[in-house]
Amino acid sequence: MPAADPPKVVVTRQTPGAYDTIAAMGADVVIGPDKGFPHQPDLHRFLREHAPIDVVVSMFHDEVNDAFLNAAGGRLRAVVNYAVGYDNIDTAACARRRVTVCNTPEATTEGTADIAWTLLLAAARRLPELDPFVRRGGWAEHGLMGMGDFLGLDIAGRTLHIIGAGRIGMAVALRSLGWGMRILYTSRRRHRDWENAPLNARRVDLEAGLREADFVSIHCPLTPETRHLINAQRLASMKPRTVLINTARGAIIDEAALVEALRSNTIYAAGLDVLENEPHPAPGLIDLPNVALTPHIGSGAARYREMMTEIVCENVAAILKGQTPPNPI
Ligand code: GLV
Repeated sequence: MPAADPPKVVVTRQTPGAYDTIAAMGADVVIGPDKGFPHQPDLHRFLREHAPIDVVVSMFHDEVNDAFLNAAGGRLRAVVNYAVGYDNIDTAACARRRVTVCNTPEATTEGTADIAWTLLLAAARRLPELDPFVRRGGWAEHGLMGMGDFLGLDIAGRTLHIIGAGRIGMAVALRSLGWGMRILYTSRRRHRDWENAPLNARRVDLEAGLREADFVSIHCPLTPETRHLINAQRLASMKPRTVLINTARGAIIDEAALVEALRSNTIYAAGLDVLENEPHPAPGLIDLPNVALTPHIGSGAARYREMMTEIVCENVAAILKGQTPPNPI
């Protein structure tokens, strides 16, 4: 009898960390290019070249739909997303084909909470204006700062509204304890752990939280229900001193409406790690002084990215052994 092909695992782009544990199981591991495939037809061609594939490790910018699944071939057992969010995956199409879907939950929590706070502090204290002011010689030209120049917002004791009470929302809320903030949370269900010490958070509906908060940070998944959750009307309901932070998915905010709200000072500032149409900012966004921007880099510390690869490998290993993976969706 001819020997069976080794299982094939295709990772659609390079990631920090190693896939040695999978290779040591005898699998043929193929890793895509450094930047992956920004254009889906190139991704499909790459998958077809390596089909039949047993497991694909996908990235959040890979659209896992029927065309993707067809290209991977009929042997596909699982798609393991190198991300916590999985709005890029048509989970119904995967279920129809009995393809398991997994993600990498714990690894992205701390890094994303850090970038949310980086953006919150930067937006409140006007870093997008201050850094170029110093760097481009503005300070040297201006001389000593006037005590009323570039005043920003105070943070201690203010109200922080977290939308989405998952792991990342919790990590962002915990960091606010150092500032003695009041915490509001919006979630489909009640979370008593949020309402107990140390957070002592109060559950509010979205509208009430937006009206009351000084800082709003988004930590819910992108779904049909949360697409444009923050629209022109909701932006108009916020206080003029509000800072809005989004480290979840860009399309949760109507970005064109946000540009207008920032331009007209309907809200004070925003901090965005994610865009509606990555990597392209909405027209006018990058011309605004009151927005701090980072390029979807929440989990971007070596320790967290390596941890994501480790979690991916644990899931792939279980799937190849025919076991239930630790992080199925
Ligand atoms: C990144 O955006 C992730 O979902 O992990």
